[in-house]
Amino acid sequence: MLRRLHHEQPESFAFTPENLAWAETQITKYPEGRQASAIIPLLWRAQEQEGWLTRPAIEGVAEMLGMDYIRALEVATFYFMFQLKPVGSVAHFQICGTLSCMIMGAEDLVAVARDKIAPNPHELSPDGRFSWEEVECLGACSNAPMAQVGKDYYEDLSSDSFGDLIDRIAGGDVPVPGPQNGRFASEPAPGLTSLKEYDAGKPTHNVSAALAVEHGDTLKRIDGTEVALTAPWQGKAKSRKVAVKARKVTTPGAAEAALSDKGENAKPRATGKAAPVAPEGSGKKPRTLSAPRKAGADDLKQIKGVGPKLETLLNTMGFYHFDQIAKWGPEEVFWVDQNLEGFKGRVSRDDWVDQATRLAAGEQTEFSKKVKKGDVY
Ligand code: FES
Repeated sequence: MLRRLHHEQPESFAFTPENLAWAETQITKYPEGRQASAIIPLLWRAQEQEGWLTRPAIEGVAEMLGMDYIRALEVATFYFMFQLKPVGSVAHFQICGTLSCMIMGAEDLVAVARDKIAPNPHELSPDGRFSWEEVECLGACSNAPMAQVGKDYYEDLSSDSFGDLIDRIAGGDVPVPGPQNGRFASEPAPGLTSLKEYDAGKPTHNVSAALAVEHGDTLKRIDGTEVALTAPWQGKAKSRKVAVKARKVTTPGAAEAALSDKGENAKPRATGKAAPVAPEGSGKKPRTLSAPRKAGADDLKQIKGVGPKLETLLNTMGFYHFDQIAKWGPEEVFWVDQNLEGFKGRVSRDDWVDQATRLAAGEQTEFSKKVKKGDVY
């Protein structure tokens, strides 16, 4: 299937403050120089927020990760999970059409979707609220046929129950995901044949359905308020405030041009980068030096988490010595964390201040000993 960006694109994209904080956290999960590894989670979150993946979103994520636009476009256009055109504003149904589901009636579900939503896949319903597509096996074969909406699976469907599902969602309901024929999970349809003792006292919903009920995010656009940050070193996101600038897109068709542009022109046209996340204000810039002192710069690579690229970046910013870093308070740490382009969050993640304090005092850390022995490459 030819996958192209939609001919109509919004003017700009910006993560919600919470999603931006989440995205910044994901980036810190990857090693130095490997921030591009966060491309899929960030594109996915952008899609969860907007419903589909817009060109400004793809380019905005590329800028956050220091990637050429063409690289981000390659990812977005390769994976079918990324929707490159608008989907229904309320729900996009992904109907599995692979073997088990096909045998169990997927074609009936598709017929219902054609009738109730739109004649063709990826076509919006007349009111723009729904769309559908046929997808490959979603791994719920024992509950075939099934359809996915957002994060959740609706399983053991029939044409009647699927039609009812669409009607209920259209009426503002958020039906409980999971089996729609009364099964708890994927036990035999006539009932358990073994482990019957576990049947008594089981909860109302299986774990997946229970989580879906708890989060209630099946039909919701994910704005980042649903989940806590998942990287402990980043702390809690709740108190964070951010200012995000919207990006202006360039002329229509420029993205397609970029797809065929492997050269210099494919470099990101950086404008309106996402602003840093700030707990209170934007932190405080530490004192810097224009050059190292006479004795020469310290080997900042003795600080765990600082590699050659980060050391160069720190030197460029005016940081050459352990005792400079040792003096950073929380405000300074925050400022540096947010201004390490491509390495945001590293200062607090690896507790540079504690390491630098020991190194400035002439002590060694386990890591600095390894560096000195040449055991760190
Ligand atoms: S065949 Fe439909 S979920 Fe596997």
